[in-house]
Amino acid sequence: MKSLVGLLGYPLGHSISPVFQQAAFDFYSLNTTYQAWPTPPDVLRSKVASLRNDQYLGANITVPHKERIQDMVDIMDPEAEKIGAVNTIVNNRGSLEGYNTDSQGFVIPLKKLVRFDFKGKRVLLVGAGGAARAAVFALAGEPIQSLTISNRTHVKATKLTDIVKHLVPEVSHTGIESMEFTKAVSNADLIVNSTSIGMSGTEDPMLSPIPTSWIPPNSLVYDMVYNPPITPLLSEALRAGASILGGLPMLVQQGALAFEKWTQLEAPIDLMSKVAEEALSKTLN
Ligand code: ATR
Repeated sequence: MKSLVGLLGYPLGHSISPVFQQAAFDFYSLNTTYQAWPTPPDVLRSKVASLRNDQYLGANITVPHKERIQDMVDIMDPEAEKIGAVNTIVNNRGSLEGYNTDSQGFVIPLKKLVRFDFKGKRVLLVGAGGAARAAVFALAGEPIQSLTISNRTHVKATKLTDIVKHLVPEVSHTGIESMEFTKAVSNADLIVNSTSIGMSGTEDPMLSPIPTSWIPPNSLVYDMVYNPPITPLLSEALRAGASILGGLPMLVQQGALAFEKWTQLEAPIDLMSKVAEEALSKTLN
């Protein structure tokens, strides 16, 4: 029987998830179509309820629905519960299970692609929204020495540091225009951007949250933004002589983990990455 799975968000814009997910289903010759489901907030509950129909494998969830979906599923995975957001729904014979693959999606590229050694490292995380929350839980599971969370809105950084203060030896927070922020950047081994600063389609896509002169040459700069592939922050990092990691491997990895939950098959991650890169370069042209 033909089955369906898709991406729930609003608006969806030029999402590349349908393209690389479809490549994975086709790789295994599964009779499954991955669709884009732009879903405004007022029809979200009825759309989610319809996923209990046996033709649906489930869904991926994106902005702005990841938090609200929690009360619309039947079972929450403990990891998703901890993060407070769902990015993957699995329809298990009419029962909807909520998962979050963003944390693992964030950390696996650090381990597998750039072989980052977390032991004793000082980490700076810029931003304190949903993406930052997923990153924080992943980082707290690694043997880092310190975590500084820097955000424009101070209270959000404070809240996020409170969540992990017992999980990492040294935890602190700063604004993004203070002397403390400059200091935290210059002391960091790993700098992560979880904000939308520098993302194509935003008001100021040429902006970098950090200038070249502050970035330590021996650091790794990880931008969760994947469009463009080399963001203004990553350009600054390269100019400083630092190593870089873009956001596309995270996007593909969280999707690959979702694919494995829907199908119980090993995701063809190299193929998915290649297709994602091609799809992204088409949206840039
Ligand atoms: P996501 O789910 O993608 O993380 P979000 O929860 O809306 O999205 O979080 C967006 C993050 O980017 C926040 O940390 C936000 O800062 P505020 O908490 O101050 O709003 C940050 N952000 C977005 N645009 C920004 C900008 N122009 N300057 C500084 N921070 C920005």
